[in-house]
Amino acid sequence: FDFGDMVWFPRKISDIDQAQNVLMYGSDLDADHPGFKDPIYRKRREQFSAIANNFKHGNPIPRVQYTPEEVKTWGTVFLELHRLYQLHAVPEYMENWPELVKFCGYREDNVPQLQDVSSYLKRKTGFQLRPVAGYLSPRDFLSGLAFRVFHCTQYIRHSSDPFYTPEPDCCHELLGHMPLLANSSFAQFSQEIGLASLGACDADIEKLATLYFFTVEFGLCKQSDNSFKVYGAGLLSSVAELQHAITAQDKIKKFDPELTCKEECIITSYQNAYYYTDSFEEAKEQMRSFADSIQRPFGVRYNPYTSSVEVLSN
Ligand code: TRP
Ligand code: FE
Repeated sequence: FDFGDMVWFPRKISDIDQAQNVLMYGSDLDADHPGFKDPIYRKRREQFSAIANNFKHGNPIPRVQYTPEEVKTWGTVFLELHRLYQLHAVPEYMENWPELVKFCGYREDNVPQLQDVSSYLKRKTGFQLRPVAGYLSPRDFLSGLAFRVFHCTQYIRHSSDPFYTPEPDCCHELLGHMPLLANSSFAQFSQEIGLASLGACDADIEKLATLYFFTVEFGLCKQSDNSFKVYGAGLLSSVAELQHAITAQDKIKKFDPELTCKEECIITSYQNAYYYTDSFEEAKEQMRSFADSIQRPFGVRYNPYTSSVEVLSN
């Protein structure tokens, strides 16, 4: 195999600075976005885009002073979701909640700062955060995971609809993703998906991204009493879609990587179907064996001492 034919991918953690393709929104909002007609919101979003676009690996993530209106939106989302988590979130999700309160300022009246969460995760599972201006391309997003870097939006959803937003925002990152990234086995799993994606062809990236979507973003797991609990971050950050998913039982299907990888990912509205496994561990194992089945003419090995990826000929 001629390594010169290989598609470019980050080899060391600072190369992630060059993998920042934002697909949607950023600061140019689409016409159906609730903030589209609000000039103040659009202006505010430009400040967040500037932070993300100027960020370089190794910089501290700039702290943001959220406005009273933004804190109010956060508080509304926080309170309602927190109530739903008691009933509908998997136990692995709930486990780290007390530490997020203690070390990262998770409270109704405070939007946690990405830098504080990043420092906490770094100590806990080795993950670190990186600000991003909008929905990142699947290839770039997955490649960050290979280095235990999780891309996070820092702006908050528009105040007109706290219970559903058509793009990821800081409520989604902070409430949906962070509690599970503090779980070491989930962190390991996330990195493995990332490593499988490095240098994969476009078709394989699409499959991996779809499986990531129906597990990490929208997955459920069946409990011993046959009810479902949720671990997908896209559900754990949306009051409206969470309620929709747990009441639309006919839309919940068994996760099967070979079939699920062909499903369409709907980014700006509810999913047509949700997928469950019998346990959280099962989802990980199925996802892991699918990732292992992806053929590449070379292998990759992560070197944690140098935060870099070694490419090995097969
Ligand atoms: N709907 C989610 C929320 O309200 C945010 C979101 C939009 C999202 N598109 C997504 C989350 C795609 C995960 C994947 O919080
Ligand atoms: Fe997400």
